[in-house]
Amino acid sequence: MPDYLIRHATLRQLQVFEAIVRLGSFTRAAEELFLTQPTVSMQIRKLTDAMGVPLFEHVGRNVKPTEAGLEMYEACRRMFEILANLEMKVADLKGMKRGRLRLGVITTAKYLAPEILGQFSRLYPGIELALKVTNRERIIERMHANEDDLYIMGQAPEGQFEVDTFHFAPNPLVLIGPRDHPLVGKKNISLEQVSKEPFILREPGSGIREAALRVFSSQGLRPQVRMELGSNEAIKHAVVGGLGLAVLSLHTLTLEGIDGAVAILDVEHFPIMRQLYIVHPKGKDLSLVDRTFLEFKVVSVPWIRIRMDSLWPRLKSLLKDSKKNTASRKKRAKK
Ligand code: PGA
Repeated sequence: MPDYLIRHATLRQLQVFEAIVRLGSFTRAAEELFLTQPTVSMQIRKLTDAMGVPLFEHVGRNVKPTEAGLEMYEACRRMFEILANLEMKVADLKGMKRGRLRLGVITTAKYLAPEILGQFSRLYPGIELALKVTNRERIIERMHANEDDLYIMGQAPEGQFEVDTFHFAPNPLVLIGPRDHPLVGKKNISLEQVSKEPFILREPGSGIREAALRVFSSQGLRPQVRMELGSNEAIKHAVVGGLGLAVLSLHTLTLEGIDGAVAILDVEHFPIMRQLYIVHPKGKDLSLVDRTFLEFKVVSVPWIRIRMDSLWPRLKSLLKDSKKNTASRKKRAKK
């Protein structure tokens, strides 16, 4: 038994400590935990006294954990994971649909995840929800650090660690331009022609960026990147502002539709037929809440498809073609 720590440290102090290390700042930890900054400082002072070694060092205006602080952080993460699982298991035993669901999603999924969570929470109002939206690379990092319960992403991470994936919805990536662009309305535009136009690209670490660059390079081409932007919404505005063409998921057009200021261009090799998956690390101990959400996603699939089909009626035949192509590719590979 860790007799000394049991008598001298509290779980609340460890929670405050964990938040400071994770967020890199006393102020942000205070905000996240709804505490005042003096309370946070006091908790850390008490914890430092109990440990008898400094837990933080100041680097300029930032704080960094010392070596002892890093050891403590690792221990806290493991302890909190075990305690969170215990809470969920007790809730499971009580047979209650209560608890917490933390969902980490790629930027494209923010155009459907909030609606799904809305429906989910109408059925299970007792479940606390948290949604983190970021790019593919950050989602993979979060999965490594076990920061969320389930993830929505475009393609399972390859080679880094094993995951279970559950298909969720199609995620076609389309080439877009401003409504008044001369290529709007043209049929089967060559990729070469597009590569001569100024182009707006997502930031490094984005899955859409990777997928778009892959299509260009598979044809020995490179887009003329005029600008990099870290947000799908900013990209739409930049497209409308005439800064260039771009590749985005069809889902990003859900609210404004495809007849507005942003137009879909008919370009060869597009749309890129990606999919969205719910993902979790293999072997993860799923709570009742996680399992309930996984079952619930089945309910969401039909309305997402209906919404996509009415947004872009051409999608139905494109999806059929892509299914046929995949089936014949598989057949060829077997021979
Ligand atoms: P992104 O992900 O938000 O990283 O661009 C999209 C995807 O992987 O399909």
